Amino acid sequence: MTVHFIGAGPGAPDLLTLRGRDLIAACPVCLYAGSLVPEAVLAHCPPEARIVNTAPLSLDDITAVFEQAHAQGLDVARLHSGDLSVWSAMGEQLRRLRALGIPYTVTPGVPAFAAAAASLGAELTLPGVAQSVVLTRTPGRASSMPEGESLAHFARSGATLAIHLSIHKLAEVAAALAPFYGADCPVAVVWRASWPEQRIVRATLADIAARVDDSMERTALILVGWVLAAEGFDESRLYTPDYERRFRPQSAGAMHGCTTEQG
Ligand SMILES: C[S@@+](CC[C@H](N)C(=O)[O-])C[C@H]1O[C@@H](n2cnc3c(N)ncnc32)[C@H](O)[C@@H]1O
Repeated sequence: MTVHFIGAGPGAPDLLTLRGRDLIAACPVCLYAGSLVPEAVLAHCPPEARIVNTAPLSLDDITAVFEQAHAQGLDVARLHSGDLSVWSAMGEQLRRLRALGIPYTVTPGVPAFAAAAASLGAELTLPGVAQSVVLTRTPGRASSMPEGESLAHFARSGATLAIHLSIHKLAEVAAALAPFYGADCPVAVVWRASWPEQRIVRATLADIAARVDDSMERTALILVGWVLAAEGFDESRLYTPDYERRFRPQSAGAMHGCTTEQG
């Protein structure tokens, strides 16, 4: 018996890894974080699966379901939205499982920031503009921010910011960032990226708060940075003809008239 933690992706049921889909289809028990994982993803469960929405459950309740499945020898698919490496609450569940000696695996998923960037048709790291993406949030009721992780701290770097769990504080976020990026810095809010009802608002730090209404609540990402409007950025050296590298030696390319790309 194994508990399989699976990144369920940003919402679209087909934005799931093949491994994740196959594990969901093979597990007789499925636990899902109902506040964010759309029910369409559950269509991959076997028809007789026991499906549990963990949104109203405590960590103790969830652990009890794991223990019960373990006692019955039933594999469990444990779904969280996006990827499991950020804001999934997986860490505390794994700690419980380790203490109980229950085996687990972890299968990554498509994170919301990547789905939002795809919806915008944007690369978040453009040469000469920004080469780092900061995945961050503002403090919430359940989680304070460690010292040194304020928006101002990250903004000093000029990196592209992907701000989660903060749409309800959009005006505050924009005001905090404007002194660093400039009031005319582009911002995009992507609500329910990859869902059928997805909405996108593009604006600047000066006017984004006025452009986004309260209906775009909770499942929204705030992306901030000059990459969102850059046109005159440098080209990457990766594909320049004179760039000698392991997988595309100039001599081999010239000899065979072909190249092998990476990246
Ligand atoms: C608890 S975090 C989960 C993040 C997730 N583990 C991931 O990899 O993206 C929830 C936040 O992620 C963002 N989010 C999740 N799904 C989203 C989506 N489909 N579109 C936009 N933002 C999303 C929102 O900022 C939301 O408040």
